[in-house]
Amino acid sequence: MLEEEYDKTRRRLPAHLRRVESERPFAYEIRPVRASDIPDIREIYNHYVTNSVVTFDEKKWTLAQWREKVAHLQKLDMPFLVAESPTGQILGYALVQPMSAKSAFRYSVENSIYLGHAATGKGLGRALLEALIAASEQAGIHQMVAVISDKGAEGSIALHERLGFVEVGRMGRVGFKFGRWLGTVYLQKQLKPIKKKRSLFGRARTD
Ligand SMILES: CC(C)(COP(=O)(O)OP(=O)(O)OC[C@H]1O[C@@H](n2cnc3c(N)ncnc32)[C@H](O)[C@@H]1OP(=O)(O)O)[C@@H](O)C(=O)NCCC(=O)NCCS
Repeated sequence: MLEEEYDKTRRRLPAHLRRVESERPFAYEIRPVRASDIPDIREIYNHYVTNSVVTFDEKKWTLAQWREKVAHLQKLDMPFLVAESPTGQILGYALVQPMSAKSAFRYSVENSIYLGHAATGKGLGRALLEALIAASEQAGIHQMVAVISDKGAEGSIALHERLGFVEVGRMGRVGFKFGRWLGTVYLQKQLKPIKKKRSLFGRARTD
């Protein structure tokens, strides 16, 4: 039978058998991380460890490493947010961590943001990073720095620039992954911290 003939004679399926063309909106809730999110976070991150040069990690992270990181950042009052779908899946996460363990760096953080591959390109990165900036300002943080690979991370550089990060430097050939040299791009944003009584890193504030 020719295709045109088939189309003419084709019967319409009864309503209950027809496929519902769902135009479901891309919905999510942004909230602080919970221990139960760790398996999804690990899967999101390990995808980029194994398949990309956007992270310079070469070995997959274990659940124990993530548990330790979450606990450490919670102890330091450093924001760690996730975006959760209506079905309870973690679509992406964003966190900040101390830029250095040396105490004079206590108002400066380095950020990190990763979305599951299917959740990229739909505005979630912007929403998560905006929420991370707001939460960091609430936590009394002054400076946020993004350290981004100079290969394959164009989306991340674009996102940070859209949100007011300014490139402050580059380092060439400081990483080596998948048989090639990689550099880093540094972007910095001055935050508008909310004055807090409680100090970061447990030290008294002087300003
Ligand atoms: C980088 C990442 C967080 C960006 O999030 P996203 O949801 O894909 O980006 P968004 O859809 O929110 O886009 C944010 C802005 O950046 C722009 N942008 C995003 N990707 C881009 C690209 N590849 N090239 C140019 N601009 C891009 C968008 O146009 C948008 O601008 P607008 O808000 O003014 O319209 C996400 O793609 C991701 O997790 N990628 C893989 C992991 C990664 O690279 N993490 C960062 C490691 S440093």
